[in-house]
Formats: sequence, C-alpha cells, structure tokens
Amino acid sequence: MIRATITGIAAELPEYILTNEELSRMVDTSDEWIMTRIGIRERRILKGKGKGASQLGAKAVSKLLEKTGTDPSKIDLVICATVTPDYQFPATANIISHNSGIKNAFSYDLNAGCSGFLYALATAQQFIETGKSHKAVIIGAEKMSSIVNYQDRATCPIFGDAAGAVLLEPTNDNTGIIDSKLQSDGVGLPHLHQKAGGSVNPSSHQTVEAREHFIYQEGQAVFKWAVSKMADVSLEVMNRNGLDHNDIAWLVPHQANMRIIEAVAKRMKLDKNKVMLNIEKYGNTTAATLPLCIWEWKERLKKGDNIILTTFGAGFTWGAMYLKWGYNGIHRAD
Ligand code: UT7
Repeated sequence: MIRATITGIAAELPEYILTNEELSRMVDTSDEWIMTRIGIRERRILKGKGKGASQLGAKAVSKLLEKTGTDPSKIDLVICATVTPDYQFPATANIISHNSGIKNAFSYDLNAGCSGFLYALATAQQFIETGKSHKAVIIGAEKMSSIVNYQDRATCPIFGDAAGAVLLEPTNDNTGIIDSKLQSDGVGLPHLHQKAGGSVNPSSHQTVEAREHFIYQEGQAVFKWAVSKMADVSLEVMNRNGLDHNDIAWLVPHQANMRIIEAVAKRMKLDKNKVMLNIEKYGNTTAATLPLCIWEWKERLKKGDNIILTTFGAGFTWGAMYLKWGYNGIHRAD
C-alpha cells in the first residue's frame, strides 16, 4: 500500500528574541504570570520592513531542499498553512516557491488557524496516495507579530514568528500517515478572530483607529474547547487504530498553552517525557508549531515510532493524525 511519509524537515526562526522581561515593560504583565498561566519565556520576532511570512517559509524550504538533496524542479505540490500571508493574494505558497526555485509545482495557501499544518498534511497525503504528487512540500509559516496588539496584555505574550517545512513522499515500507480525523465548527468565530481587513469589514481609517486588525481572543472559551477537543480526537484516532498510551512514542501537540498540553496528555495517559514541548522558547507560532516541534526532536525520532499530532485553532478547527515515523537520523536517504 502506498502511503505518504515525511522524508525531511527544516525550520527557520527569526533572530530577535522578545523576552517576558521586555514585554513587561510594554504592558502590565510579568514573567511570573506568563510562565505560570501560559508557559512561555520568550518568542521570536521577525524584524525589518517588507518581510512577511514567506521570508521565513522560503528559508525553511531552501534548507529542506538542500539537506534532503532534492532538486527543486522535482517538487510538484506546495501547500503553505498560514493566517499571516504576505498578501491577501497571491498566495504566500507561490512566493515561497518562487524564492526557493520551485517552478514545476502547483502552490496554494490553506487557512485553518492553528490547525493549518495538520490540514495541509492531510490534504497533501491525498495527492501522494492517489499518485498525483510524488514530492510535496508542506509549510507552516507565520509572522504573528504582524497581527498582535502589543497594547493588549491578554494576547501579546502568546504569539511568535517561525516557519517549518516538511517533504512528503510516497512509500510502501509501512511508515507514513496512517490515519487522521479533522474537524471544524463555525461556532468558534466570536471567540477567536481578526475583526477587520476581510470582506465583512474592509480596512478603513476607522478600523485602524479602533485597532481591529489584531487578534481578538476570548481566552477562557478557547481554552476549554482546546482541551476537550484535542484530547477527544486524539483518543478517537488512537482507539480506532488499536493503540493505547504504551504504543505511542511521541505526542506532538499544538503549542498554545502549557496547561492545555498538560491536560491533553493527562487525558491520554501519556507520560510527560513523550510530549514534545517547546512553547517556552517560541510561544504559539500558529501553523508553525507542529513542524517546529518535530524539527527540534528529529534526532530523537526512530523509524517506526508511533506519533500522534494534534491541534486546535481558530474556526474552531481541530484534529489528530497518526503516523509512523519514516527514518532514523537527519533525513531519509533513499
Ligand atoms: O492557538 C489558538 C488557540 N488558542 C488557545 O488555545 C488559547 C487558549 N487560552 C489560553 O491559553 C488562556 O485562556 C490565556 C493564556 C489566553 C489566558 O489565561 P487565563 O488563565 O485564561 O486568564 P484569564 O483570561 O482568565 O485572565 C485572568 C486574569 C484577568 O484578571 P482579573 O480579571 O482576574 O483581574 C486578566 O486581566 O489575568 C489577567 N491577565 C493578565 N495578567 C497579567 C490577562 N493577561 C495577563 C497578563 N499578565 N499578560
């Protein structure tokens, strides 16, 4: 059976580190509050005019192609998951492809909030399994700092900028993506959105003055949904594949809040040391959190490891994926 398997991973992080100490000089907050309520110590910020999410995405993709020894002309599909595209149009995926030498692919963006990377991976999986794609690049790229209100203490500590990218290829060696369940519910709109800049409320002097181009989040409502939906969907995917917690090598959870991750892992009966956690260093990088985790853990992953990825985000959107890791070492060299 042909499956889609990850054969390489890369990431790009901006250099600038925004610490809790610096944030506490901008708004009424403290390192102690942010660490205990969210679990973030610092986040990366992309500085400089004229730099969008594609800047990070293209660097991640260029590194990915280089380290996997992939000829850019062989890539036939590029999907970029993002809520902070360079422009409303054209798609950021097109810009990334152009800037990383990919000329023979169809490239498009996918917006599923923080679940974007998982949605994109599941979408590319279909193209690989049906033989329509042989080498797909899936990216999560965000410049969250472009939509964060640095006068709002309830949201500004949370988010950071980053990009991660994976190469997805067909395999028949019993590794790769085995199952996933993705879901959404539009009931989430009032709890997490950007008020202006879309067709309902186009940009105007008024929308700028009212600071409506930033993230609006009702944290507690999102928190409750995130814990129950991520745990429910992960357990459902595990159960229907005959897996219990002992069978899982790694959980890769969306990095929104350390307390959410702990609660999800507890419901899944997973030991802390099986949970990928890097929120402390990078914060919530929205569509980039999952590839950023896998990228940091890549040396520890072994061929055949059972991995569960799970996310929750704006929409609401959520999901879980079960995959068997495809290689030992830095990247797969077939
Ligand atoms: O990635 C997409 C999905 N997003 C998520 O999963 C986020 C889910 N939500 C959360 O992670 C949490 O709800 C937050 C981190 C956003 C907020 O944490 P919380 O524990 O739910 O705090 P809260 O909103 O209930 O606020 C508690 C108190 C409030 O003060 P009062 O009204 O009790 O006096 C806030 O004003 O904490 C205050 N507060 C702060 N204090 C210091 C809110 N933000 C801050 C801050 N520093 N940065």
